[in-house]
Amino acid sequence: MEIEKRLLSHGQEHILRVWQKAQGEEKAALERQIAAIDWDMLGLRESVRPCGKIEPISGISAEELDKRKEELFTIGAQTLREGKLAAVLLAGGQGTRLGSDKPKGAFDMGLTRHLPIFGLLMENLKAACAACSAIVPLAVMTSAKNDGETRAFFKEHGFFGYPEEYVGFFVQDTAACVDFNGKLLLEEKNTLAAAPNGNGGWYTSLVRSGLLEREAFKTVQWFNVFAVDNVLQKIADPVFLGATLTSGCKTGAKVVKKVCPEERVGVLCLENGVPRVVEYYELPSDMANARDTDGELLYRYGVTLNYLFEKNKLEEIAGRGIPVHVVEKKIPYLDERGNKVVPERPNGYKFETLILDLVALMGSCLPCEVVREREFAPVKNAQGVDSVETARALLIKNGVEL
Ligand code: UTP
Repeated sequence: MEIEKRLLSHGQEHILRVWQKAQGEEKAALERQIAAIDWDMLGLRESVRPCGKIEPISGISAEELDKRKEELFTIGAQTLREGKLAAVLLAGGQGTRLGSDKPKGAFDMGLTRHLPIFGLLMENLKAACAACSAIVPLAVMTSAKNDGETRAFFKEHGFFGYPEEYVGFFVQDTAACVDFNGKLLLEEKNTLAAAPNGNGGWYTSLVRSGLLEREAFKTVQWFNVFAVDNVLQKIADPVFLGATLTSGCKTGAKVVKKVCPEERVGVLCLENGVPRVVEYYELPSDMANARDTDGELLYRYGVTLNYLFEKNKLEEIAGRGIPVHVVEKKIPYLDERGNKVVPERPNGYKFETLILDLVALMGSCLPCEVVREREFAPVKNAQGVDSVETARALLIKNGVEL
């Protein structure tokens, strides 16, 4: 009766009819999906917008990092050897822009040899371990949609030569999707359409998974969280870690200088004195074009989605609400006659929390500028900007044989 009441009070009669007809394990699974729905979230229609006073944030330039390289490396490397840093690979996204239905990390960047994105990232992690004589535990966040395939891929590739006991997987949550009228959609006969709920909940999901109690993770005090799609990024970079540790900040962010005011990248700023990533479409044109006395863009720190987070601070803010973003999306669904429809245009909303909002909750952040051509080659799109082609060109430029 509880289910019935809940569905009726939220205008979901069509799902009530499905539930009434369903049987056995399928009915039980549908009940679990309905019970997990956050109805308040489902009712949201507006994403959060900046409303406070936006100002530039000060960070460390690439030149300064280079000057202090040795000192910072020593501090970071020691921290890695003490097992105080874990790497967290965010691989729960759907990679819809790339257009592959496999996990994005399985995408082959090679031209003459097999070179999956996961393999490239593992090589980057291994390079840091070798330079510091350390082994960094790695937690891989997957989603309900790609968990099995991701684990199998690592296994088939012998964990890319990494010690298996230092690699763990955990699954992020999903959130139900609705059409533009707020009606739940069916993905299969007795299954609601749902999507991974964004990368903002990585810490909550990681804690819940119990992975942090595993031997390799017990001493961890910091996390280096990074996106699956930047094939050039340095992972567990001791210089970045050393800079963040000595700054006293609870978060560090690898940033690149924006190439031009119009570049479509989120920019690290201060909002009412607190770090905040402002999306390119949220930054007014006069601010995007403003320059300092050296002629540099005032708001120049483009985020690369490679962050350091301090564990104690994450624990402290764990209970605080993180904003939910409403995203228009193409959601495949079953129509009233039970036929599968794969829409060509967005037909509904998905709900997600974002890691950039976690940065604001952390309260302090050190932007560390890295050289774009050496550390930033995102694979977002099949063609054009930030695509397979542009990332391959950058890999070749950095001496990687494809
Ligand atoms: P993106 O914002 O690029 O999203 O994710 P995406 O889902 O991979 O790709 P599109 O937008 O559908 O084309 C940035 C990083 O956050 C991870 C992604 O795997 C990527 O590493 N992510 C994103 C998650 O782990 N979970 C999510 O729910 C969303």
